[in-house]
Amino acid sequence: MASETPDMETVAQALKQVAEDGKMFMNNDPSAREKLVASARALVLAAETPMDSLLWHVWALPTRTAAARIAVDLKIFETAVDNGGCPKSSDDLAAATGAAPTLVKRISRALVSMGMLGEQGPDLYIPNSFTKLLANREYGAGIIFNFEINMASFTKLPEYLRNTKFQNPENARDGPFQYANDNKPAFSWLVERPELFEAFHLYIHALRQHRPSWTSMYPAQARLVEGLKLDGDASAFVDVGGSVGQILQDFRAEVPQYTGRLVLQELPEVVAAATAKSVGADGRIELQAHDFFTPQPVRGARAYFMRTVLHDWPDAQCRQILAQLKDAMEPGYSRILISDCAISDEKAAWQHVSMDIFMMNQVSSRERTEREWRELIGSCGLEVTGIYNKGDGNEGLIEAILPL
Ligand SMILES: C[S@@+](CC[C@H](N)C(=O)[O-])C[C@H]1O[C@@H](n2cnc3c(N)ncnc32)[C@H](O)[C@@H]1O
Repeated sequence: MASETPDMETVAQALKQVAEDGKMFMNNDPSAREKLVASARALVLAAETPMDSLLWHVWALPTRTAAARIAVDLKIFETAVDNGGCPKSSDDLAAATGAAPTLVKRISRALVSMGMLGEQGPDLYIPNSFTKLLANREYGAGIIFNFEINMASFTKLPEYLRNTKFQNPENARDGPFQYANDNKPAFSWLVERPELFEAFHLYIHALRQHRPSWTSMYPAQARLVEGLKLDGDASAFVDVGGSVGQILQDFRAEVPQYTGRLVLQELPEVVAAATAKSVGADGRIELQAHDFFTPQPVRGARAYFMRTVLHDWPDAQCRQILAQLKDAMEPGYSRILISDCAISDEKAAWQHVSMDIFMMNQVSSRERTEREWRELIGSCGLEVTGIYNKGDGNEGLIEAILPL
């Protein structure tokens, strides 16, 4: 049986690391916060007994996931921040939905023990900074998305893999998601559920606001603006699978000297959502319903941009998407810009690893290493001309061209 006593030497090392990283953090070193979080996590693991770790895994993690989802329905986060975040009892929190105060109390104290809500005394709750984030509808949408989409098929993933004799899922139309969800392709399934589809887009939008922008790592002036042809399709920056237009709005603000056309291509339902948000209203951003498995209508554009689009698809479908772009590209002039992560060969960031398993679960796809990206893109007759990164665990930017 594993020892019940943590190894003191390991704990001492972990403590020393926390102290060093903590000092850098207190000295306002901008790179220190993430290091401190990582070393503090390592300290918790070092100090836990194996049984502590097992109980955290078996008891705490499912409780946290379920309690958070229920709390969104019970509007606990929103209610907790109301009236300046004044302390509230479970009776006060329950009033928002008419739920039983006893139930609200049980969920609230679970939230407190998992750090999602603060507590000021017996049955008296106050918001902490995480509560305040989750009170915002866009961030709460992440909890809905995770529970209704990821968790529902995660519960079936082991069974699916056993049934397939543990083959790596590679078929976007017949994989773990379909096994758990009536054999539907993931995006069709989502489109048929407008509330979840909205939660998905709200969450993606919120998530992006906290990741370094691709323009902060890519030399847009040198690679896109200089040499830009200003007439027709050649002037276009096309955001393929661009959601409701935030990427183009950010690009417009971050690279205002790009004076070419800005084109958002998406599924018709998403174009409708972008229209409802007045994304194309001032005429600067053009909205186009377009299926990226069909011929690309904007020919010879300056850039075809895709953020977290290719990671949604196995290699076979990525080749089809890239082939449609390749057919439209002007050799040497057009660029494909792929904003996705390049997962490390060793000590991969937890964000990348989680996303990799999510992608397997949802769409039989995966995150790719730099070598896998080069192989995939090269197999389509395209050439990788740069890979840009900023910080561990973020998406990078891969540039590819059709050689002359
Ligand atoms: C993970 S989301 C990324 C959205 C956006 N690029 C971003 O980073 O915020 C993938 C997007 O691909 C779109 N999509 C899926 N299938 C598509 C298709 N066949 N043609 C065009 N867009 C599609 C989805 O609607 C979704 O918005």
